[in-house]
Amino acid sequence: MQPAQPNDGVRRHRIAVIGGDGVGPEVVAAGLRVLRRAAELDGGFELVTDELPWGSDYYGEHGAMAPEDFLETLRGYDAIYLGAVGSPAVPDHVTLWGLLLPIRQVFDLYVNLRPVRLMAGIDGPLREKGVEDIQMMCVRENTEGEYCGAGGRVHEGLDMEVGLQTDVFTRVGVERIARYSFELARTRSKRLASVTKSNAGRHAFVFWDKIVAEVARDYPDVELERVLVDAAAAHFVTDPARFDVVVGSNLFMDVLTDLGAVIQGGMGVAASANVNPQGGVPGMFEPVHGSAPDIAGQGIANPIGAVWSGAMMLEHLGESAAGETVREAMEQVLESRRAHTRDLGGTASTSEVADALVAAMEQS
Ligand code: NAD
Ligand code: IPM
Ligand code: MN
Repeated sequence: MQPAQPNDGVRRHRIAVIGGDGVGPEVVAAGLRVLRRAAELDGGFELVTDELPWGSDYYGEHGAMAPEDFLETLRGYDAIYLGAVGSPAVPDHVTLWGLLLPIRQVFDLYVNLRPVRLMAGIDGPLREKGVEDIQMMCVRENTEGEYCGAGGRVHEGLDMEVGLQTDVFTRVGVERIARYSFELARTRSKRLASVTKSNAGRHAFVFWDKIVAEVARDYPDVELERVLVDAAAAHFVTDPARFDVVVGSNLFMDVLTDLGAVIQGGMGVAASANVNPQGGVPGMFEPVHGSAPDIAGQGIANPIGAVWSGAMMLEHLGESAAGETVREAMEQVLESRRAHTRDLGGTASTSEVADALVAAMEQS
């Protein structure tokens, strides 16, 4: 744990850094370079980081993704900066339920904020859509629904074997994510889309819709649209401008935000923040993408998703000015196309993107 804070007026934020697997450590290293430089340039705060060597390599050595008391260790930090978890060598449900998912659940990080925003300088795949058309903020319920972990296997190994995965939606869970989304919509365009599947999902999603409608009564100034998830997927492609704040259940928003990532330029640019708005626990900031084993170790992963997530972390820690500095550098570097990685049609390496971002911050 960290030493007591010296009384020198400098704000110190303790960050647990979990690079994790595949490209995770590569993008996190680039992100940290940018964030540290932003802190130096700001002069008012420092990031005190501990790099925790947890993930699938750790699993190979110890038979677990992290030490048994890892959640207690993480609780002592102000934020968690994570790369990605997942390796072809270990089943995904073992790695993810051994590290990433317990962090979201045990710290009750019930809001997963995922901006879907096409930035200037990126040629998105939607030919006729420009930056003004793709400006959403996706709010993913992050602790229950299809990810609650309930279920089991019955008659294992027999012909009549059964696999059960149970979705659990609670009034508290739906109401708090709905309220958060309405509040967020109020600070933006006052439009909120709630994504469900309440035609087929006649229990849980009808319940979701009912609670959202109840909460909506407190927000008469916000226009609420109820959208079925299959239609929402189509609209993301044909008419993304119809959406501003989009809220949905854990699994639906997992899938929709990969689609969102693609329409904003690719998996490498998408960012996310897992937070508990009530505070008292560390938030976790991570790119939307996974460990990308197909490109790991080559130094070519796009670090923009990790950098952007880092900017969200700074803002969450109260360092809004530095967060803004990072965002502006990102926008400038992307718009100039001077350090596009391969996924964006360029040739820059991961560390060259970090170099360009640092240079942009130093010049501003
Ligand atoms: P992925 O996001 O790792 O990769 C999907 C595609 O996007 C690949 O073609 C990859 O090369 C590309 N890509 C991803 N990140 C990129 C980047 N920064 N720059 C350029 N291209 C990038 O998804 P996947 O292949 O389905 O999953 C791989 C592993 O990651 C699995 O083990 C999965 O469970 C895990 N996963 C982890 C997280 C997480 O830790 N948050 C998220 C998603 C997937
Ligand atoms: C994400 C990832 C995770 C999720 C996986 C790796 C468990 O896909 O953060 O989007 O489904 O939440
Ligand atoms: Mn995902």
